[in-house]
Parts: sequence; C-alpha cells; structure tokens
Amino acid sequence: MLSLIKLVGQHEASLFLFTILVIFLVALFGSFLSRKGRRRLPPSPLKLPIIGNLHNLGLNLPRSLWHLAKHFGPFMLLHFGAVKVFIVSSADGAREIMKTHDIIFANRPRLRAIQKLLYNYRDVGSAPYGEYWRQIKSICVLHLLSNRRIQSFRAVREEETALMIDEIERATLILDVFTAGMDTTYTSLEWAMTELLRHPNVMKQLQKEVREIAGEKSYIQEKDLEKMHYLKAVLKETLRLHPPVPLLGARESTQDVEVMGYNIAAGTWVIVNAWAIGRDPMSWEQPEEFIPERFLDSSIDFKGHDFQLIPFGSGRRGCPGILFATTISELFLANIVHKFDWTLPSGVKEKDIDMTESNGLTMHRKFPLIAIANKCSC
Ligand code: HEM
Repeated sequence: MLSLIKLVGQHEASLFLFTILVIFLVALFGSFLSRKGRRRLPPSPLKLPIIGNLHNLGLNLPRSLWHLAKHFGPFMLLHFGAVKVFIVSSADGAREIMKTHDIIFANRPRLRAIQKLLYNYRDVGSAPYGEYWRQIKSICVLHLLSNRRIQSFRAVREEETALMIDEIERATLILDVFTAGMDTTYTSLEWAMTELLRHPNVMKQLQKEVREIAGEKSYIQEKDLEKMHYLKAVLKETLRLHPPVPLLGARESTQDVEVMGYNIAAGTWVIVNAWAIGRDPMSWEQPEEFIPERFLDSSIDFKGHDFQLIPFGSGRRGCPGILFATTISELFLANIVHKFDWTLPSGVKEKDIDMTESNGLTMHRKFPLIAIANKCSC
C-alpha cells in the first residue's frame, strides 16, 4: 500500500514538473513570437497624457530638438499632442527620407490652418503629392525658375543691385542700418554679413577676392561671380550654420516603412533638422566655427546630393528656387563688400554681436544687425 502511494506521488510530481516545463516553454515561445511581431520604434522621451512631448520643447525648436537628439540619438519619435513626429538629425537619416524613401515621404502634413490660408493646399509647398502638385512644380522648375528664365532677368537684377548700392552710398554720409527682411534669401544674407563682421579676417579675404576680380568696375556683374570661389564658400558656410529654414518642410509617410531599422507607421510626420545636421560633429570638423575655407577644396554642395548640407532640402519636395536664391545672394554680397568697408557701431566689439535666433519657420536674427557702411578707400 505504502509503495503504491509512493508510486502515485512520484507520478504526480513528474506530471507537475512536466506541466511547469510546458508552461515555461509556451511562455518563452510566446514572448519570442510577440517580440518578433512587435514594431521597433525609435527612442522617445517620456510622454505625458494629452500633450505628449510638447513639454520637452523650447521656443527655439531646432535647438531643443538638437539637445534631445544629443540624448536620444539622431532618430527620435516625439508626440506633438496626438501627432507622431519622427525627428531626423543626421545626414544618413536625411538621405533615407529624401532619397531612399523619397516617394513615401513626398507628402506634406495636412494642417487646417494651411488649408484655410492657402486655398485648400493650392500652393506648391503644401499641395499633396499627386498630379496637381506635379503640374505646378514643373511650371516652377521648367518655366519660372529655370536656368534660362533666371538668366533672362540678369540685367534687371544687376540694375536693382546697382540702385541699392547707390542708395547705401547716399546713406554713408553718417550710418546705414543693415536690416534684412524675414524672407529666406535675405535671411541668409543677414547671417552672412553677421558672420563676416564677427570674422574680420574672412571679410578681408572676401574683399580681396571680389576687388581683385572686379578690377576697375563700379559694380560686380553676374558673369564675374563664376570666379569668386571664396564668395561661394562664405555663402555655403553661412547656410551650414544658419539654414534659413532650419527644420525642412515637414513630410508625412504615406505607408508603413522601415527607416534605419525603425518602423515608421503610415501618417507619421517627419521633420529633418537641417540646423542640427549642419552642426553634427560626425560630418563636420570644428562644427561650431565659421570657417569658409572648409569648402575651398571640397566638392560638397547644397544642391541636395550631399546630405550633410541640405539648407534647400532634397528629392521631389526639394526647393526649386536654389539657383534664383544663390544668384541673388552672391550678386548682392559681392557688391556690398566690394563697394564698402563695413564696421560695427562705435564701442561694439565682434564678440558683442548678438547671435540670438528668432523662432518660427524661417530662422532670422532676433535683433536686426547694425553695421556702418564706409565708402571703400580702395
Ligand atoms: C536661401 C533661400 C531659400 C532657402 C534656404 C529655401 C529652402 C527651402 C526648403 C528647406 C524647402 C523645403 C524642402 C524639402 O521639404 O525638402 C523649400 C521648398 C520650396 N521653396 Fe525654397 N528656399 C529658398 C528660396 C526659394 C526661392 C527664391 C523660391 C522661389 C522663388 C523658393 C521656392 C520654394 C518652393 C515652391 C518650395 C516647395 C517645393 C515643394 O514642396 O515641392 N525657395 N525651400
């Protein structure tokens, strides 16, 4: 009898152990399956109910996203309220969005305010990717902003620039206040002048180039710009540190997609932080320093092929106004440094120049730049 009880007990114990083993294996397999099926999301800071990650953001959005990226890495998933936003802060990531998966990210997010302001998304910048956008973008690229069309207005631009130089010349009889507008092209010129005034050696080098090429001419013409390599380097360096549109036009994914190993769901907004990419130590030596020389022996350009320098974006939704903007900027900058020696108001040192940036879609100087135009003694 005793041995029968012992046998049943042993049998129950082994049944018990077997059951535990099965449960363990099932649990292990289940967890493996669910981990396999689970989406791998980009890292996110802790989000709060309703507002998501809005509390993580400061007023200077590119800068606060840059600080977050230093902690969470170049790919982050933030929640702007209920909206999922994929933030990209590296050249490799930008290439994935605007080249590898460009067609998936060719849409702009639909915002009610934009819909109301821009007549139901009728402008090129906000129009949904599709036939209508294709038509108006090709009008821009082929007819309004083509190389031929831009060249055809060369005389007008040169005349306007000459008039502006004369205007500044008249004003140099005490002080000229160099105030640039909020528009992207003028924003980049205002930052260029700011950096030139902060770096007198760069200004001197630029004036040397421009004045040597100009010779006896009163005004620089567009055909002279070709040879001005230092001028082009100064503008590139300005656009690297101060991209006028620091967070490139937002995009929206039209389908689920994997980017750099992360699963991005359809409908996620994507923001590429060009401002942070321009300062990324992985792409740039001494990233915080204004050194135009870095571009002299380099083929890096801002036309959208070198993803470490993308002030105009890239891919299908890239800016069609690059040629127009750079031609005006080069012509304007060459003429004002050719004709005038620029100084800061009395008592203001280079290091005192306020570099505070404004908030908003275009990042211009928060306070206007004040500089004195002295007629060149050359
Ligand atoms: C320094 C001057 C300029 C800068 C930095 C700039 C920058 C940009 C950027 C970052 C985008 C979004 C690109 C993207 O999402 O990948 C854009 C789009 C656009 N830009 Fe510019 N831009 C400038 C000047 C101009 C000019 C002069 C024009 C026209 C005369 C222009 C017309 C446009 C248009 C139409 C779009 C929308 C393209 C689309 O959504 O398909 N831009 N620009």
